[in-house]
Amino acid sequence: MFKHIGILTSGGDAPGMNAAIRAVTRTAIHAGLEVTGIRYGFSGLISNDMIPLRVRDVGGIISRGGTFLRSARCPEFKTQDGQQQALKNLRQQGIEVLVVIGGNGSQTGAFHLSKLGMPVVGIASTIDNDLAGSEVTIGVDTALNIALEAIDRLKTTASSHNRAFLVEVMGRDCGYLAMMSGIAGGAEVVAIPESPCNPESIAQSFRASHERGKAHAIGVIAEGAKFKATDIAAYFKTHHERIGFELRVTTLGHMQRGGAPGAFDRILASRFGYEAVNALLRGSLNVLVGIQNGKISTTPLSEIAHAKKQLDLQLLEMGRTLSI
Ligand code: ADP
Ligand code: F6P
Repeated sequence: MFKHIGILTSGGDAPGMNAAIRAVTRTAIHAGLEVTGIRYGFSGLISNDMIPLRVRDVGGIISRGGTFLRSARCPEFKTQDGQQQALKNLRQQGIEVLVVIGGNGSQTGAFHLSKLGMPVVGIASTIDNDLAGSEVTIGVDTALNIALEAIDRLKTTASSHNRAFLVEVMGRDCGYLAMMSGIAGGAEVVAIPESPCNPESIAQSFRASHERGKAHAIGVIAEGAKFKATDIAAYFKTHHERIGFELRVTTLGHMQRGGAPGAFDRILASRFGYEAVNALLRGSLNVLVGIQNGKISTTPLSEIAHAKKQLDLQLLEMGRTLSI
């Protein structure tokens, strides 16, 4: 039976990470375990930046965005030396199992650590929602609502001025955020990496919307799409593509990662954190805690590391039909 667990947040922060830290810490303490927080993700494992976590240390954080343990991208952890140093520090601290809260890259890092003999449990958390092994990840619902609010606001000003907007949203190489915010915001165009698109076809859709008498047109462009929003705008200009509307570009960027988590993410994070500790207590190790078919699930990290999540591309077609 384990006596001492470590917990860290890694990669891009996501609203709800704090709720997951709180859930892991309190569930573990309730079960009689000692908890150590590692600051700055894998970077803190290498530099030995660790703090004890008690019940009161995680008080008041459920409503806060970001991660109070801080996060980092740590290229050094991708090297054997970095991983060996992390392992050495974990052993010196007496940490017997590590909970890793993060996205695709972080869970791949967790998998490597598990192969070196450190038991780990991952918790699916990223606004990109690009993790195989969980239909939804902590943070994406809040990020989606932020993008949606921006689209709704842009639509009102677009209509007043008969303009088209290209709104670029995050997601790295995954189009989930763009597709879903596009559907929810009634966008005329959605461009994502998983589906072919080009500036001419976007111009054509905008033109068609104008000809159908629309007062505005919105194109949601995933940052990982083949053409960035600014490239598309530049293409329209240099090729004198007439789209019927005046055009503006808005890049939402890190706005989508900031701010307090919504109820959905707080509850999801609480459920994931609670399950992560229960999984390790019953000996279910080297797994990712996520949600599948509406139920909390555990999937071996070996199946998740390097896997690519599939999007339901029929939703793109649905969005196009509904925005005529
Ligand atoms: P996210 O977890 O949000 O996808 P990143 O892809 O930046 O974010 O990954 C976070 C961190 O996970 C990286 O900075 C690195 O320390 C670690 N990591 C990512 N990929 C690997 C890998 N292939 N091997 C070991 N560690 C990795
Ligand atoms: O993985 C989350 C994410 O916000 C991606 O959507 C984006 O591509 C990336 O992180 C941005 O990274 P950084 O915060 O390092 O600029």
